[in-house]
Amino acid sequence: MALAVEDIVARCQAALDEHTPVLAVRDVLDELVADPAGLAHALGPVESGGIRPLHHDADLTVLHVAWTPGMALNPHEHRMWAAIGMYGGQEDNAFFRRAPARLEATGGKELPAGEVLVLGDDVIHSVTNTRREFAVALHVYGGDFFAVERSEWDFGTFEERPRDLERTRRLFDEANARWLEQR
Ligand SMILES: [Fe+2]
Repeated sequence: MALAVEDIVARCQAALDEHTPVLAVRDVLDELVADPAGLAHALGPVESGGIRPLHHDADLTVLHVAWTPGMALNPHEHRMWAAIGMYGGQEDNAFFRRAPARLEATGGKELPAGEVLVLGDDVIHSVTNTRREFAVALHVYGGDFFAVERSEWDFGTFEERPRDLERTRRLFDEANARWLEQR
C-alpha cells in the first residue's frame, strides 16, 4: 500500500515510546528518505516554499518544509530536539552559539537528499537553499513547535529577538515571489 501522511505521523508517534525518541525518529526518517518517490507521492507536489504542519501536539510536531530556491532563514533555536530528513534538493546549515556580546559561528553542515540531521535542543542554526530547486524535507520536533517560546537572531546584526513565525511566513512569501520572477 502506498505511504500516506497518517503513516508518517504514526511512525513518528511510535518512535516516542522508544528508549531514546530522537534516535528512533532518526531511524524512521532514514527509512522514509530512502524512498523519496514514496514520500513525494504521500506529501504531494511542491510548487512553492512553505511550512505545512502534518501533526502537532505537546510531545511531537511533524512538518513538511520546502525551502524556496535562494532562500535563507535567519538563525533561530527550537528549545526541543529536532530531526530533519531531506528527500529532495539540499539545505545548508550554519551553526552558532551564544557568546557574551553576540552570536558566534561554530560551523556548518550540508544536508543533501537522502540524509537525516539530528539537532539537540540547544542548537542555534540558520538554513540556506543555494540550489535552483526546492529543498524538501520532513522536520520532526520533540514538542509543540508552535507553542514553545524561543529566540531568533537578525542575519545582519545578530540581535536576539522572540521567534516570529509571521516574519518567517513573510520570508517565504518574498522568496516565492522572487523565484517566480526568475523562472
Ligand atoms: Fe530550525
